[in-house]
Amino acid sequence: MRKRIGILTSGGDCPGLNCVIRAVVSHATLTYDWEVLGIPYATQGLRERQAIALNMHGWDLRGIDPLLNMGGTILGTINKGDTLAHIDEMLASYEALALDALIVIGGDGSLGILHELANRGNWNLVAIPKTIDNDVALTERAVGFDTAVNTIVDALNRLTFTAASHDRVMIVEVMGRSAGHLALHAGIAGGADVILIPELSYTISRLCQHIAELRDRWQRKFAIVVVAEGAKLCLEDVQENIASACAPPKCGRGQYIADQIAQCSQNLIDTRVSVLGHIQRGGIPSALDRLTATVFGKTAVDLVAQGKFGQMVGWQNGEAIPVPIQDVVAQSPLHVNPQGSLVQSARCLGIYVGEKT
Ligand code: F6P
Repeated sequence: MRKRIGILTSGGDCPGLNCVIRAVVSHATLTYDWEVLGIPYATQGLRERQAIALNMHGWDLRGIDPLLNMGGTILGTINKGDTLAHIDEMLASYEALALDALIVIGGDGSLGILHELANRGNWNLVAIPKTIDNDVALTERAVGFDTAVNTIVDALNRLTFTAASHDRVMIVEVMGRSAGHLALHAGIAGGADVILIPELSYTISRLCQHIAELRDRWQRKFAIVVVAEGAKLCLEDVQENIASACAPPKCGRGQYIADQIAQCSQNLIDTRVSVLGHIQRGGIPSALDRLTATVFGKTAVDLVAQGKFGQMVGWQNGEAIPVPIQDVVAQSPLHVNPQGSLVQSARCLGIYVGEKT
């Protein structure tokens, strides 16, 4: 019998989601002749039993395929909500929509919730990892990360010239509440002098010393500091700074660091803060994200065809392979390895990346 599969995007959006949808619909309809239902707004749409029939011809605009390079998600998404309080409604929706399988594109939080639902409802679930944070375990790639890294590097390229022209320290705050992959990758690729991430706490004295050294020893009058929104102070500094007017969460981490640099240099160093925010989630997907999205979408459909459920498509050693969702959930979020080659390379280049784990 002709299969009917559902697809949804869940959690924060990122570039490349539409590319995954494109690959899933294309492979499922053209290769297998299945019906594909898009479920809008993740679990909210599921709960409300909403579904949109998707097929390759539905979005053919004079031969142009907009999904290849369109950011965001045509299905809409949510990254909050009380999904587990409505379990029964959602389990009933899966039955009512008569789905043979559900392909979900999400980060570790969404995968945890959907895996729980799938267990309770005996759903045929296949997952695809997406997140600009790149913190989903058991995969070297997640859709959206590469584009976000490129967006930050582009910002760093621009900021470097204005920083150099004015002898300023530019503090660039990037996303990453609990994992610093984004800051670390973009900071190294974009030529940062300091990269602060949640996994390696920093001290204000070392940070200031590093910037002073750049000026005094190397005559580098400007500096670029990339700071993840979840970067942490060393414990001894936390107590001292608790009373600071601008300690997070009173202000963002970037502003706090700018104030500290101004303070420790007796206001001799001029600082500016750029918070990149949701610019990092927008934009046209990079070539690598398009490739990853295409291979992930195709592989997810093949897993459904093979009846291999409860699996996420992961990228390991140059190949897309199935990994059990329950292992992914148990091992996520994936943190930066403080002993890993990226941190070590950054240190060898003279970048201050914090010290303690
Ligand atoms: O999880 C991805 C992420 O981009 C985080 O790095 C960031 O803190 C968060 O989403 C912000 O999400 P939103 O503003 O959509 O709630």
